Formats: sequence, C-alpha cells, structure tokens
Amino acid sequence: MKAILLSGGSGTRLHPMTLAISKQLLPVFDKPMIYYPLTTLILSGIKEIMIITTPHDLPQFQKLLGDGSQFGVEFTYRTQAKPDGIAQAFLIAADWLNNAPCALALGDNLIFADGLSTKLQTAHDRESGATVFAYQVKDPQRYGVISFDETGKALSIEEKPEHPSSNWAVTGLYFYDNKVCEKAEKLRPSPRGELEITDLNKMYLEEDKLHVSLLGRGCAWLDAGIPDSLMQAGTFVQAIQSRQGMLVGSPTEAAFRMGFISLEQLRARGETMAKTELGKMLLRLADTHERFF
Ligand code: TTP
Repeated sequence: MKAILLSGGSGTRLHPMTLAISKQLLPVFDKPMIYYPLTTLILSGIKEIMIITTPHDLPQFQKLLGDGSQFGVEFTYRTQAKPDGIAQAFLIAADWLNNAPCALALGDNLIFADGLSTKLQTAHDRESGATVFAYQVKDPQRYGVISFDETGKALSIEEKPEHPSSNWAVTGLYFYDNKVCEKAEKLRPSPRGELEITDLNKMYLEEDKLHVSLLGRGCAWLDAGIPDSLMQAGTFVQAIQSRQGMLVGSPTEAAFRMGFISLEQLRARGETMAKTELGKMLLRLADTHERFF
C-alpha cells in the first residue's frame, strides 16, 4: 500500500497566517503540522508516500522533509496547481500509484488515540473497499457526515449538510483499495467546483464497500484549519507531552517503533535537536529502549 499526504489548499480560514506560509507548515506546539498526519501514515506501516502541495510551497516541504530517509520512508513530491478538491489527489497520483491500494491523509488533521495502530492495521490489511474513520463532533455541519443503522452499517454520507443526520464526522484519513483511481476518474466537480472526497466515498457506499471505523470518546481528532482549532491542537499536544513525557506526532518515534529506522538513527536524530525538549525526548526514548529491551 502507498499513501498520499495532501498538503495543498489555500488555508483562507487562517489568513493572514497563511498568506506567506503553507498551513501545514505552521507549528502545532513543537512540530510542524504535517508531522502529525505523517506520523499516522508511518504507524500504518506505509513506506511509499507522495506529498502533494502547491507549486509555491513545494520547496519548503522539500526542505523540511527531504527524501524521507530520516524516517526510513520514501517521499515523492507532486503539485496541485489549484485547490480543485481533495479527490483530485488520485488523478494527480494515478501513474505513481499504478493500481496500488492507497491511504490518504489530510495534512492538517491530527489523530491521537490509544489503540490507533490496531485500527490502522485493520484498515491497511483490508483487501477490498474503503475505510473511513468517524468521530463525534459538536459542529457536524463543517464536515462530511455519516449515518448508521443500529448494527453500525453506514447508510448515508453527506458533505457539509445543513441538517446533519448524525453527529459523526468523517475524519481526514482514508484507506482505499486498488479501484480508487478508476473511481476518481468518474467524479465530476460539485456545485462548489471541487472533486469531493465525499462523492468518492459515496461510490464505495453504493457498492456496499464502505467500512467505517469509529473513533470513540477516548480519542482526539483535531483539524487545525481555523485559529481556535489550531490553538486547541497545540495545547492538547503540550498537555499530553508534558504530563506523560511521551511524544505526540513524532514521525521519528513512529519510524523507530515500526522498525523503519534503527536505534542508532533514532539517537542521531535526537542529537541533531539536543537543545530542544523534542530532541531530549527522542534521546530518552533511545536510552529507555537500550536499558529495558
Ligand atoms: P480545507 O481545510 O477544506 O481547505 P483549505 O486548506 O484550502 O483551507 P480553507 O478552507 O481555510 O481555505 O482542506 C482540507 C485539507 O485538504 C487541507 O490539508 C488542504 C487539503 N486540500 C488540498 O490539498 N487540495 C484541495 O484542493 C483541497 C480542497 C484541500
């Protein structure tokens, strides 16, 4: 399985912060925003990742992330000329995907949950259909909304409905089988002029191939697309890290845990940032691992 990390868009709801800088490069506490969804993809066990961003922002992403070897993965970069919709990612990546199954993560979404790796693994291993993750929110009108029957089977999915049929929002993490590009080819722009990810998910729903993984109340899902949620995401990461002394959203730690990088590489990464708490936490992780495992 391959993955797309989608980091284009215009970030208009974060103006003026995003006039000169890509939204996904803004800090969420002590890391650039894109580190969080990247960590999720690495925890899913995916090594081949395409980063899609705007032509203007591309050099900064390349500077930050390089070729991926620091995380034991391989990055490929492509650009999206205009924000014509999330599902356009599959048209941009089609030749690279070459009919491989594909995960898609939005570059401004943070998911933190106990047991997330198991859910990700299940979605990763599913051979047919699509998997989306749903989370209860107070303001479902802002999202794709999914409704279920009493057995948990998905019944409908609607983009930003005025009168939502449930409070379950679809999060910005999706897993698709090898038919995804074929389906994306058939999409037509919505009234707002975008190729909608919800329309793609509806195609799977109509074929009875849309799996929904529920993220319960012990999980945190934050999208950092408006000033309030950006601040909340930063405060959340700070609170967990300072209380537990464990990192949230570290692709280096995730890569180490997945066996993508060695203990020596983990230590070397920590040493390059030894002046920061983040670097110290990576070094502590390396020490703990050496002593106890
Ligand atoms: P949105 O938050 O819906 O859009 P945006 O980032 O352009 O922000 P705003 O609404 O404030 O103008 O996008 C969700 C994610 O998807 C975000 O990470 C950007 C990405 N995206 C693209 O890369 N290309 C696109 O065409 C769209 C619509 C979104």
